[in-house]
Amino acid sequence: MSKFNLVINGSQFSVDVDPNTPVLWVLRDHLKLFGTKYGCGRGLCGACTIHLNGSPLRSCQLPISAVGKNVITTIEGLSKTGEHPFPPVFAAVANALYKAMGKRFYQQPFQSQIKA
Ligand code: FES
Repeated sequence: MSKFNLVINGSQFSVDVDPNTPVLWVLRDHLKLFGTKYGCGRGLCGACTIHLNGSPLRSCQLPISAVGKNVITTIEGLSKTGEHPFPPVFAAVANALYKAMGKRFYQQPFQSQIKA
């Protein structure tokens, strides 16, 4: 385990995790930021996309040790007040896709999380 200090959506976080832990699981399991989704886990689908200093990356393929002092933006960071149209549209499309597949990886409380 190692301690990492992160800047995510303009806020500072500290986590103590294995350096090889993908950023996706740090966000979801340790920081409870559920907007970043798990899809394929192989860097193919883009469900886990975050921005690192403004550049999109697949967080399922990015170990937390590679983040360094770079700034992370997740989908929650796009719209803290709910005025950005992308998060609700993304949640609706994602839910529809996964309902069609018979799975529910995407959580319904997503919109309430981004408006909080
Ligand atoms: S979960 Fe599919 S690209 Fe990361």
